[in-house]
Amino acid sequence: MKNLILGIETSCDDTALGVVDSGGIVLSSVIASQIDIHSNFGGVVPELASRAHEAVIIEVLERVLKEAGLNAQSCGLDAIAVTKGPGLAGSLMVGVAVAKALSLGWRIPLIGVNHLEGHIFALSLEGRLMHFPMAVLVVSGGHTMIVRVNSLGSYEILGETLDDAAGEAFDKVARFMGLGFPGGPEIEKVATNGDPSAIRFPIAKVDRRFDFSFSGPKTAVVNYLRSNPGVSVEDVAASFQASIVETLVAKTMDAAISTNCVSIGLSGGVGANSLLRERLLAAGSVAGLEVVLPAKVNCTDNGAMIAQAGRFRLETFGADDYGLDVEASLRL
Ligand code: KG4
Ligand code: ZN
Repeated sequence: MKNLILGIETSCDDTALGVVDSGGIVLSSVIASQIDIHSNFGGVVPELASRAHEAVIIEVLERVLKEAGLNAQSCGLDAIAVTKGPGLAGSLMVGVAVAKALSLGWRIPLIGVNHLEGHIFALSLEGRLMHFPMAVLVVSGGHTMIVRVNSLGSYEILGETLDDAAGEAFDKVARFMGLGFPGGPEIEKVATNGDPSAIRFPIAKVDRRFDFSFSGPKTAVVNYLRSNPGVSVEDVAASFQASIVETLVAKTMDAAISTNCVSIGLSGGVGANSLLRERLLAAGSVAGLEVVLPAKVNCTDNGAMIAQAGRFRLETFGADDYGLDVEASLRL
């Protein structure tokens, strides 16, 4: 028995579904991105996001089942996991309503999953083992936090951003530079031809050692661009990327070492950044700590990580009932 779980993720602007087996192997993962819809606005428009989820989710479901060798008639799934929060309420509701209907129709258990716990469980996809205590840097467009995972299900937030998320800072700077959305991959591309030491952008001071602040650095780049109109865009992108990566790696290492973690994990959309992956691996190796990097496609929002977290929830706490509700501001 492969014991298959379907994961449904609609918390922001990706309609993402995945099927995962009991060994954490991803049988299929399909993502319908809404980038084209939101790119003109430079950010996600909630009303448009929920409408777009509703428009495509059944088509995405059919594709993900087909790619896993399943179909909607005979089902073949053992449970359905769905993101219940945090995220955009209207978007979350589309996923939760579809998950409830499928659970009822197919008579299989329903599990509500915290999106952030999903990012942590992305680390155990594809049969990877997690060794605890582990310091996980969850870094995306909506979140930037260092979580100490004491064991599965036991989390301590060591630090988080006081203002913008790192991905949000990438997106805003990219927008100001006239690059596309989402900004992280665009800045990464442009940065490959730039000199990361060309400009020294300030690193924000925060009171608590493991907290972050990315609003200041973002404004510093914008001000720099305004007062130096002829500057090389490549150098600005490379220097900005380097300063964000440096902060993320330094704080994650500090948090991991000072709280006696044995390993480090990286997840969330910014975790797809090659420089960040390289630097974290190198720092981990110097400190003698194992560094777990999920495949880039499993760092950005996806359904497989929700299925993987759902399996743990189901086995540990049992299924949810149909009173399951969305929680836009859910904490870890
Ligand atoms: O986890 P995610 O797909 O969605 C949530 O925000 O939950 O993360 C998206 C964020 C965006 O801000 C995007 O600019 C950033 O991740 N991102 C990157 C890269 N790929 C995606 N940032 C830096 N470098 C990348 N290669
Ligand atoms: Zn996310």
